[in-house]
Amino acid sequence: MRNIFIVLAGGVGERMGATVPKQFLKIAGKPIIQHTLENISQIESIDQILIVMHKSSIAETQNILSEIKTTTPIKIIQGGDTRTQSTLNALQFISDKEAFVLLHDAVRPFIDKKIVDRCLLALQDFEAVDTAIVSADTIVGVDENDCINSMPIRHFMRRGQTPQCFKLSTLRQAYKFAKKDNNFQVTDNCGVVFKYLPDVEIKVIQGSEENIKITENIDLQFADKIFQMKTAPITDLHIAKEIFLDKKVLVLGGSYGIGKACVDLFSKLGAKVISASRSQTQTDITNPDSINHILDSANQQLGGIDLVILTAGQLSISKLIKMSDDDIRSLINIDLIAPAIVAKLAYPYLKQSSGELIFFTSSSYTRGRSDYSIYSAAKAGVVNLTQALSEEWADDNIRVNCINPQRTDTPMRTQAFGKEPSQTLLNPEIVAEFTAKTTMANITGQIVDVRLN
Ligand code: CTP
Ligand code: MG
Repeated sequence: MRNIFIVLAGGVGERMGATVPKQFLKIAGKPIIQHTLENISQIESIDQILIVMHKSSIAETQNILSEIKTTTPIKIIQGGDTRTQSTLNALQFISDKEAFVLLHDAVRPFIDKKIVDRCLLALQDFEAVDTAIVSADTIVGVDENDCINSMPIRHFMRRGQTPQCFKLSTLRQAYKFAKKDNNFQVTDNCGVVFKYLPDVEIKVIQGSEENIKITENIDLQFADKIFQMKTAPITDLHIAKEIFLDKKVLVLGGSYGIGKACVDLFSKLGAKVISASRSQTQTDITNPDSINHILDSANQQLGGIDLVILTAGQLSISKLIKMSDDDIRSLINIDLIAPAIVAKLAYPYLKQSSGELIFFTSSSYTRGRSDYSIYSAAKAGVVNLTQALSEEWADDNIRVNCINPQRTDTPMRTQAFGKEPSQTLLNPEIVAEFTAKTTMANITGQIVDVRLN
């Protein structure tokens, strides 16, 4: 019996309110549905993937499929006006007499093999299987006046996710009954079986906290974080030497602190590194001619540029009203305009090499606080710049990431804050290691947090 995986992608994402259906919004440089499909297509026990897609997006889906390397056959089917209709379209397409079908929301990109394995195992004993997680929140039932009318015991409550999985004949039978019911209102496939085949036991297997459904705008931010947790930190530096051997790296700001630690580590890993700074190469990152000059010279000396790391910047803390207009302009110039111009000038080299650009931000970017107005505003800008460029350059295969180190023991910091207890500060070598791991993780558009311990 075949295991058929149905990806429900026929919706338009009204609640998200974007200009494209949400399954095409990007996380880490790739459309959400591409992440979903990449994860599923690597699972050997899946015999076929069916994507149910809105008519207007079928061509775009074809393009995405051409990016995916897999031996699993994948077919696109036209979706319907409702999730139920989309499901029925998929069921109609299946000619197998009997099969196991797993129905999954395209907008749950963090599906993994463990969940699918649990589903398939449960299907050995049950005709219907739902995926769910325990609820940390108490669930209350309300009436039409928003007053509580039931308080189920939390211990027995679960939050439903997908996949929902069935023996094909069971799901077909449930829909056959549903069609005869004029009051049919169920939106969820397990709900259809629950209502119309009350004798069928529906087993609930454990999903995962990460298997979120991207529904509202804020879910994109959660998704970015989940993606980041799943990738950068788990890469092992053991295999780094294969990746860094002869990699052509330009570090802007390489004479001290994090920049120097990057130069040292990448060189040790076998990369060909050029360290540029005011003292070493008379490079001024606020001067486009100077940037052009160092890019050109690095390109000639290294025979190309695979990775540009920009660590140069300025940490300056002051109350806004104490800053002169020139101070304000100069800080924004160094911490935001320079990264934008470096990016623009590095673009042709990185396009040539399908390379990567790495910026640095500061943990103060997430929330403004007193004395940091301009510095944090510029650093927040760099985060935004990273995300935007990762999308603009995805088609050129250029990756753009940003490292967000917690307070780090660097001369720049000591100058601003004086001597601080060293156990409360990250050392630059750890930050350099995370930078290497970010490169190895092959991700883009990510803000990689580096924390003490
Ligand atoms: N879906 C579908 N066919 C539909 C409606 C929804 O295949 N006619 C899919 C969606 O593409 C999505 C999944 O069902 O992957 C979960 O639905 P939901 O989160 O509600 O997505 P949308 O319907 O696109 O979003 P919204 O309800 O905000 O419009
Ligand atoms: Mg919907």
